[in-house]
Amino acid sequence: VIAFFQPKLLAGEHVLVTAGPTFEALDPIRGITNHSSGKMGFSIARAARDAGAEVTLVAGPVHLPTPRGVRRIDVLSANDMLAATVHEAERATVFVATAAVADWRPASHSDQKIKKDGSGQPPVLHFVENPDVLHTVAQSARAQSGRLFCVGFAAESENLLAHAKAKRERKGIPLLVGNIGPLTFGQDHNSLLLVDADGVRELPHAPKLVLARELVAEIAARLPGRNH
Ligand code: CTP
Ligand code: CA
Repeated sequence: VIAFFQPKLLAGEHVLVTAGPTFEALDPIRGITNHSSGKMGFSIARAARDAGAEVTLVAGPVHLPTPRGVRRIDVLSANDMLAATVHEAERATVFVATAAVADWRPASHSDQKIKKDGSGQPPVLHFVENPDVLHTVAQSARAQSGRLFCVGFAAESENLLAHAKAKRERKGIPLLVGNIGPLTFGQDHNSLLLVDADGVRELPHAPKLVLARELVAEIAARLPGRNH
């Protein structure tokens, strides 16, 4: 009902969103993951849909219902998320990376369950760095030519503003959104810090869906060739 009254700020746009954690398998029954709930990304997907966009949501393992009218692609690992996202980005006009992609994955995957060997010594795990989904998409010709507007998210435990500014430049993206407060995982409320080339703007503490709608309006206002 509320969606009916939302202005269609993203009509004609195709919004691609990554959300949730990734899961990096160690053996058939174990792996590395994190506590991302996916709520912020799912809220953004819903808000973008309500704003008239076609929306594709690439989701890591989360326990959330798919927002109505949103096309969802489920993935597990960072590599799978990269493949699905790069493919979908060919059609997208806006990319919002909210996923808490695992920075590292186990260097090798065992086809069988790793067993205790009786020595009392734990196994030594080796890791390799995962691909950066956002950076990869942001470097694509589509993004570099302005046909795909890329937005990143950053959760930092300290110095949010300084880290957010540096991260925006390192990722090569026009807009980076900082999560204020380190413990927003799984919560329904959040505050956001918007960092772009012009400076910083805060979206104060509110339910994630309210923030998602505000963020959608901020993105719409920044799309080239548009005047909202
Ligand atoms: N991101 C991504 N792929 C990765 C790591 C991060 O797409 N392998 C995206 C996230 O979805 C987010 C942004 O990059 O939009 C910032 O993620 P963050 O973890 O804060 O940055 P990192 O570059 O991983 O740096 P660090 O974790 O060391 O602060
Ligand atoms: Ca990271």
